[in-house]
Amino acid sequence: MLSLSHISLTIGEHRILSDVSCSIDEGEIVGLIGPNGSGKTTLFNVISGFLTPTHGTVHLQGSDITKLSSSRRAQMGIGRVFQNFGIFREMTLEENVLIALEALPKADRMQRGNLRKLAGETLDMVGLQSHAKQKAGSLSGGQMRLLEIARTLMSGKEVFLLDEPTAGVSPKMTQQVADLILQLKKQGKTVLVVEHDLPFISHVCDRVIVMDVGRVALTGKPDEVKKSKELRELYFGADPTT
Ligand SMILES: Nc1ncnc2c1ncn2[C@@H]1O[C@H](COP(=O)(O)OP(=O)(O)OP(=O)(O)O)[C@@H](O)[C@H]1O
Ligand SMILES: [Mg+2]
Repeated sequence: MLSLSHISLTIGEHRILSDVSCSIDEGEIVGLIGPNGSGKTTLFNVISGFLTPTHGTVHLQGSDITKLSSSRRAQMGIGRVFQNFGIFREMTLEENVLIALEALPKADRMQRGNLRKLAGETLDMVGLQSHAKQKAGSLSGGQMRLLEIARTLMSGKEVFLLDEPTAGVSPKMTQQVADLILQLKKQGKTVLVVEHDLPFISHVCDRVIVMDVGRVALTGKPDEVKKSKELRELYFGADPTT
């Protein structure tokens, strides 16, 4: 589905990514973890087309997309959730969702009433239906994050890149984000999610990729990775007793 081959990225004097290779299968939910500054967000930028790698290639469903613009990649089905990005604070929640739905290729075949119904369902997914007529600016940070995630998830994309979707979100809303991701899995969508919250990652992911200083340090099932000595060393330093 999505495959990165020997990706390196140097900005100025800094080597930010070094020979990163990995592939994500269709319908797979993969967690991307690693210490701060290990290159996770940079890798998302390379996948979504905001940064061009110095070396290596990115393939989506067999086509080389390394040189394509971010908007072209979005059209090809790569969706990315930014923190509080693209929410119109002066518009109602319903209007915010309608704007995203109207951008769907199938929207022109759908009647206005149906779009409204779909917007209602989208808000319902994240428990914000009762706020539909409120301005988005009145939401808490966590609610706004949920709105942004729900909107992206309804955008008809095939691959979703979620960068710390639960940052600043309450435990209850964190559970809602996890449920949304599991719902996507049921629909056969592909998700790559960056999170520092390991229980969250174990709960939603089929597989975990661990990054360290711009490289893939290890990859495996959440349980294997959690137990691994390498992971402990990465986060807590080498243990002299082992
Ligand atoms: N445009 C840039 N120019 C120079 N250095 C950059 C640039 N973008 C990122 N970096 C550096 O690249 C490294 C990786 O950053 P990145 O944001 O990808 O890490 P991260 O794994 O997402 O970290 P965090 O967990 O803190 O979000 C860091 O050392 C960062 O300072
Ligand atoms: Mg980051």
